[in-house]
Amino acid sequence: MKGLILSGGHGTRLRPLTYSQQKQLIPVANKPILFYAIEDVLEAGVREIGIIVGPNKEQVMETVKSANWESKIEFIYQDEPKGLAHAILVAEEFLDEDFVMYLGDNILREGIVEHAKEFEKNNYDASIMLTDVENPEQFGVAELNSNGTIKRLVEKPREPPSNLALVGIYFFKPIILEACKNIKPSWRNELEITDTIQWLIDNGYEVGWTKVNGWWKDTGKTEDILEANRLILDDIQTKNEGTAENSRIIGRVIIKKGVEIKDSIIKGPAVIGKDCMIRNSYIGPYMSIGNECVIEDTEIEDSIVMEKSEIMGGGRIVESLIGKEVKIRRKVELPNGRKLIVGDNSEIVG
Ligand code: TTP
Repeated sequence: MKGLILSGGHGTRLRPLTYSQQKQLIPVANKPILFYAIEDVLEAGVREIGIIVGPNKEQVMETVKSANWESKIEFIYQDEPKGLAHAILVAEEFLDEDFVMYLGDNILREGIVEHAKEFEKNNYDASIMLTDVENPEQFGVAELNSNGTIKRLVEKPREPPSNLALVGIYFFKPIILEACKNIKPSWRNELEITDTIQWLIDNGYEVGWTKVNGWWKDTGKTEDILEANRLILDDIQTKNEGTAENSRIIGRVIIKKGVEIKDSIIKGPAVIGKDCMIRNSYIGPYMSIGNECVIEDTEIEDSIVMEKSEIMGGGRIVESLIGKEVKIRRKVELPNGRKLIVGDNSEIVG
């Protein structure tokens, strides 16, 4: 089986971060979201991966190539994000055997090994993954027949036929290419994957499904990324390679080499990347701090701070997503007031 991982798209819901950074490269617990997808696909035994790249393609290619993967990885360029089924068409030449398609902004706790086995064992033409959600109106939803097979898929239904949402991981035989060629763009002018799967059902192909039992996160919005960060940090084991002076380290914390902590409290679960300086600060639960950050005279928790950022006299910061090389400082001279240099689509609450 091959793997097709989607790392294109504009990520408009995550602006301004996605103006300069491809969404799938945003770090969760200090690892790019895309890497969780690659690891899952490898774990399922796939040894040939194609990654769809779009805007910021160089960034994605460079980041993926910076790690050592035990598989052949090739990059496939999609000129415009015209839909998930369009991404499949762009990859037509690569998709000459069964494949798993994994949306590069999805994170799944249990991985895909068991789901891949079910697909292969049952010789389905396609197999989808479903999970129970409380708000099915916000997802693609499956309606089942009385015998448990899939009857219909509906995108963001006002009146959901079930609470079974479609997870962003799909298994296909190459017949899906036929389906992609036979559907029309939707109202949002995208070739929708739900329409291709519906085409398979309507044309008598066998579409199976498996249930996801552990947690699943589609990291489309800031709050989803912070939630994924919490879920991943819940599973970390302590490993402290830094130095601490006059400080307390409580709970499960990963502290990388070269980190200097002084006069501070670190309360896990948290990860602190290499060569960070933490002084006179409180780093609270569910923090991920990238490499080479400086945090001084600040209380911060439940947030992601990306590499090379500096926060000095930041007050109390919660539930925040802070990009790379950001500088947050308290202004000391008069006149009093906040001095802000903030990019388009930023949000400052507090
Ligand atoms: P979406 O989250 O639906 O789209 P997006 O990433 O552009 O985000 P937004 O809605 O905020 O603008 O995409 C799901 C995944 O598939 C995501 O990892 C991006 C990827 N994708 C492609 O690679 N090509 C495409 O044509 C589309 C639509 C998405």
